[in-house]
Amino acid sequence: MSVTTLLHKSQFSKPDIVRLLSAAGENEKLLFDFSSEIKQVNVSNTVYLRGLIELSNICEKDCYYCGIRKSNEKVHRYTVSEEETLETIRYAYEKGYGSVAIQSGEVQSKAFTEKINRILRKAMEMSNGELGITLSCGEQTEETYRRWFESGAKRYLLRIETSSPELYRKLHPEDKKHCFEKRLEALKTLKSIGYQTGTGVMIGLPFQTVEDLADDLLFMRDFDIVMCGMGSYIEHHETPLYRYHDQLLSLNERLEMSLKMVAVLRIMMPDINIAATTALQTIEKNARIKAIKIGANVLMPNITPHRYRDDYFLYENKPVSTQSDEDDLENLDKSLQAIGHRIGYGVQGNSLHFISPPTR
Ligand code: 5AD
Repeated sequence: MSVTTLLHKSQFSKPDIVRLLSAAGENEKLLFDFSSEIKQVNVSNTVYLRGLIELSNICEKDCYYCGIRKSNEKVHRYTVSEEETLETIRYAYEKGYGSVAIQSGEVQSKAFTEKINRILRKAMEMSNGELGITLSCGEQTEETYRRWFESGAKRYLLRIETSSPELYRKLHPEDKKHCFEKRLEALKTLKSIGYQTGTGVMIGLPFQTVEDLADDLLFMRDFDIVMCGMGSYIEHHETPLYRYHDQLLSLNERLEMSLKMVAVLRIMMPDINIAATTALQTIEKNARIKAIKIGANVLMPNITPHRYRDDYFLYENKPVSTQSDEDDLENLDKSLQAIGHRIGYGVQGNSLHFISPPTR
């Protein structure tokens, strides 16, 4: 079957996805042209913003890939204060970001739960409920998830990291805290509470095969997620997984695979929100724009107060802008205009897939 015929199939099988993820040259171009068209038709050329606040790099987990893992003693740990967080949220609201995403290292404590809760309530009050808030604060109890939902968070992003339980075990310590089944359960809980639930994976991990990546996309379809944030794995010296760095795809290959993952997911789930993530931008300055062109429709500009930014290094070479957030946004706006896109200022940009049932 030609790639063109394959692209028009109503549903992809695992071998179909493997073939598309392996596409190169002319076939890759056909894939990107098709996914770009599917995107235009279903979610238009509007790009939604989520101002990203990296609330704290204190983390109770010890994931083998992550630079802010608990055992990394070289990290200077910080927490943005409640006041500063609210100031940042107000800034986002006034600048027309429409939504913010609050991301944090994973902490399960009453103090943390209550802090997030107060931030949510005050942010809702300040914006008359207009601001969309996404939380990305890891695995929490059902009670905590419910509390935050009731206080105004309507979206939650919890990456499954990989849909393969075997691979998951290789990436995490073998204990109760780092359990694949628990992660999956947390995702189900989020969905049952009524969150717009998003997930994602890392692409180009050691031991990961293209079949694993195809399974990741099938997992997202079967779970019926409404948002996705996925990006390339980027090694970090101070992590256990670094010892496999010479087995990895090159950074450019990881970026290319990530773009193909975005494109295939867009075709499989035409009306979900897909983020062009920072990890892509780490590999190539223009990669987020490339991702937007071929299927992503959400950008998450970092608006964390500048003095904290140097400490949130999940991976190495993470870009830290030297410009002001205003200048960054203006440049982003220009780059998007150059590819025929526009930013949806002042709107939440909820996932269309959450409102309407799946069509494909
Ligand atoms: N490379 C790429 N992404 C990473 N993350 C953590 N460490 C890395 C890394 N080394 C991602 C994980 C996590 C998110 C917050 O950051 O997917 O869920």
